[in-house]
Amino acid sequence: MAGPVTYYSGGDVDAATGALIRRRQAALGGAYRLFYEHPLQLVRGLGSRVWDADGREYLDAYNNVPAVGHAHPRVVAALSEQAALLNTHTRYLSEPIIDYAEQLLATVGFDAHVIFTCTGSEANDLALRIVRQATGRTDVIVTSHAYHGVTESIAAISPSLGGAESLPATTHLVSPADLGGSVRSLLDSGVRPAALIVDTILASDGIVVDPPGFAEAAAAVQASGGLFIADEVQAGFGRLGTGMWGYNRHGLAPDMVTLGKPMGNGHPVAGLIGRADLIDAFGASVRYFNTFGGNPVSIAAAQATLDVIRDEGLIEHASDLGGYLVSLLTGLDVVDVRGVGLYVGVELDSTERTVAVVNRMREAGVLLAASGPDNTVLKIRPPLVFSRADAELLATELERTLNHGC
Ligand SMILES: Cc1ncc(COP(=O)(O)O)c(C=O)c1O
Repeated sequence: MAGPVTYYSGGDVDAATGALIRRRQAALGGAYRLFYEHPLQLVRGLGSRVWDADGREYLDAYNNVPAVGHAHPRVVAALSEQAALLNTHTRYLSEPIIDYAEQLLATVGFDAHVIFTCTGSEANDLALRIVRQATGRTDVIVTSHAYHGVTESIAAISPSLGGAESLPATTHLVSPADLGGSVRSLLDSGVRPAALIVDTILASDGIVVDPPGFAEAAAAVQASGGLFIADEVQAGFGRLGTGMWGYNRHGLAPDMVTLGKPMGNGHPVAGLIGRADLIDAFGASVRYFNTFGGNPVSIAAAQATLDVIRDEGLIEHASDLGGYLVSLLTGLDVVDVRGVGLYVGVELDSTERTVAVVNRMREAGVLLAASGPDNTVLKIRPPLVFSRADAELLATELERTLNHGC
């Protein structure tokens, strides 16, 4: 498969960086990757900016996890106040987790419950267990270059990790270019899936903003007795500027919604919102306990993040600023500019050019990455507090980079 190629591949770096890379390699081993030809050692962040060990400032146009901005003071205060008070788990009564869950439930239009995990992978893994138990089926339909996480069951539905040939026969791939048609032909061929699971911005498929037949595909799976899981780990918490969830844009009625990355602004808190009947049926036969999932410190971080999204009007901001950013990028010498809210893809004509642009932008002080099956799409998904001036700086640097040899 075409693996991401914007990673450090062993080229020349300064002596101190080289020493740190060797220690890291010796300690952490071969599964980890570093971004960029010249890897970055980041030591501090604030809002949309991060600083490296030499004090150089970078514009962060890549990290969606610190959704309300790096080191947002309200999130930092909520985390540290709760950490100084008490941290336990979900087997004691606690009001904040209930308050927070009630607010999440109010964002979906169906009778649901919330279960907390620590990572998006765990949320998807649990969603799979629930849908497989509920349907008595095992097969799962995913998009052709999907990524849903790292557990064994989820790596088995993540073709972007090891390629289609790495997947079990129970995983079926559909094309983002024709979701409706390709799901329909699978069903017509006799596949009876437990679920269709889709990242609602199709990030690893190359940021597909409006996959044709999305609603039709989900409805067809549901009509066949399967369930639809909206993976909101990338798109969720307002990033797309159209309500809280990416599925809002497509007229979908998910049975499960999985959450992660931006939920705690960098603190590891994730979870799923699932149909109440499914979760109750699952809970009747299996107890659920996740030592760290939903602990009071995580909930404090998640609550503060949600409060900031609301109080700073970040969903509307994502919509406005995303539109402005796309307008600034439209007209550049590229194949395509597409985006919704603050999830923007800029498609270039080759992997080599994309890799060169990502590295050149890093040298220019702007952090980006690449995505898509061939890594030809610049992935732009900054903290939601990105400003108009940030968008202008990004557009100016990208234009300069594209016009000067990249
Ligand atoms: C769409 C999607 N789902 C799930 C995950 C897994 O989340 P985590 O890394 O928190 O396990 C990711 C992570 O990149 C993702 O992009």
